[in-house]
Amino acid sequence: MTVEKDVLREHLKDLCDEYRRHNGFNSQDYQTYGVKRGLRNPDGTGVMAGLTNICNVHGFMMDDGVRVPDQGKLTYRGIDVNDIITACMNENRFGYEETAWLLLFGSLPTAAQLARFKNTLGSMRELPDNFVEDMIMKSPSKDIMNKMARSVLALYSFDDDPDDTSLDNIMRQSIQLLASLPTIMTYAYQVKKRAFDRESMFFHPVDLTLSTSESILRALRPDMKFTDSEAKLLDLCMILHAEHGGGNNSTFSARVLSSSGTDTYATVSAAIGSLKGPRHGGANLRVRKMMEELKEAVNDWSDEQEVYDYLASLIRKERGDGSGLIYGFGHAIYTLSDPRAVILKQAAGKLAEEKYMTAEFDLYKLVERLTPRVMAEVKGTSKVICANVDFFSGFIYDMLGIPGDLFTPLFAVSRIAGWCAHRIEEVTYGGRIIRPAYRAMATAKRYVPIGERQA
Ligand code: COA
Repeated sequence: MTVEKDVLREHLKDLCDEYRRHNGFNSQDYQTYGVKRGLRNPDGTGVMAGLTNICNVHGFMMDDGVRVPDQGKLTYRGIDVNDIITACMNENRFGYEETAWLLLFGSLPTAAQLARFKNTLGSMRELPDNFVEDMIMKSPSKDIMNKMARSVLALYSFDDDPDDTSLDNIMRQSIQLLASLPTIMTYAYQVKKRAFDRESMFFHPVDLTLSTSESILRALRPDMKFTDSEAKLLDLCMILHAEHGGGNNSTFSARVLSSSGTDTYATVSAAIGSLKGPRHGGANLRVRKMMEELKEAVNDWSDEQEVYDYLASLIRKERGDGSGLIYGFGHAIYTLSDPRAVILKQAAGKLAEEKYMTAEFDLYKLVERLTPRVMAEVKGTSKVICANVDFFSGFIYDMLGIPGDLFTPLFAVSRIAGWCAHRIEEVTYGGRIIRPAYRAMATAKRYVPIGERQA
């Protein structure tokens, strides 16, 4: 077996060498042919790909064709996300379900509409009969995002009408997924613990009366207990992750798939796959790993120079995962601030005091302060950069006792609201398959008969 593996490894090396010999581009060609790499315009703004009523992400102003950095602002259906959060905090109530309603339907629900919607979600939290046994327990995955994507795809088989893309049908599927994705996540996590971490798993019966964040915490705790303030904090995180415009990688993936006329399950599983990436939602887990390594490597957490040097070594690809990235920083739109990070930082500071973790919080703040300087001085970039949503979220989850395995999945169970809202908008009003172009660079060649080919 080892010999076979070695042979295969050698063969793969040869195949990759073969690939490298015959592929690649001259970086100049992107400019020559006006390629909008990453679907960005030359000034760094995103290529306009559609219209949306769902969300606006504001991070800069344009002045005579020049991007001028500005404080970030996030609005759901025209309403500042700060206002939603402030109202929920002042009235001491959960806000994720109200946010999902706002994103999906475009209005703020009345008290009666919201109560009915919460009941509907509660009644749909359970998975189809035998789904957990057949789809989750039988082939566990080390990665919960992978399991969630597969489970969503598998739900197709349990739907009597999976391919109908009428508004009625995709609305039904969307609400069903909004309700059941948290259940899939928590079951997948329990099974992962048992299969890969040699820990006990437990499946509590689902309590249909709870809000989304409460039902997640209940499913994760062995004794089913959690405090109201823990659930409200998770709820706040979920509101902030619920939506972020049509152009972010996972939502755009959902838009691309929806524009082809495919089904809701294929669309949402693709969006989950996109969100898993470390440059997108997967960054929250990378932040945690990066901060763990930094804490180990830096002797004095309050020593600015020591922390600066560590961050510089990340940029120089000498440490970390070798990507040269400082995770939790940078954004395609935000410049001076990411409003989600501003709110999460405040929440993290408050919780850190309660949990006696202010030294760690101070380190996060120091990294936040130093990173723009390191980027400018070491990388030499002129781009104005700030902490993004992923920088403080993992720290909060850590303090809530939520395992790293669930950092990105929690992003997904929140963002499902945005994905579905965009899918519905794309299917209902998009009207055209999304189909950009790639310039073909291969020159014409003669087909050489196999007997005449040289290695
Ligand atoms: N650390 C190090 N370098 C970074 C960086 C970061 N956090 N963010 C951007 N850069 C670099 C880019 O790699 C690029 O360098 P290059 O010209 O040598 O390739 C340069 O700065 C310009 O970046 P830009 O093209 O404007 O960024 P983007 O809009 O394409 O990418 C992100 C946006 C979010 C993908 C990017 O900032 C990033 O990878 N951040 C870290 C991962 C992360 O936190 N993701 C979560 C996003 S919410």
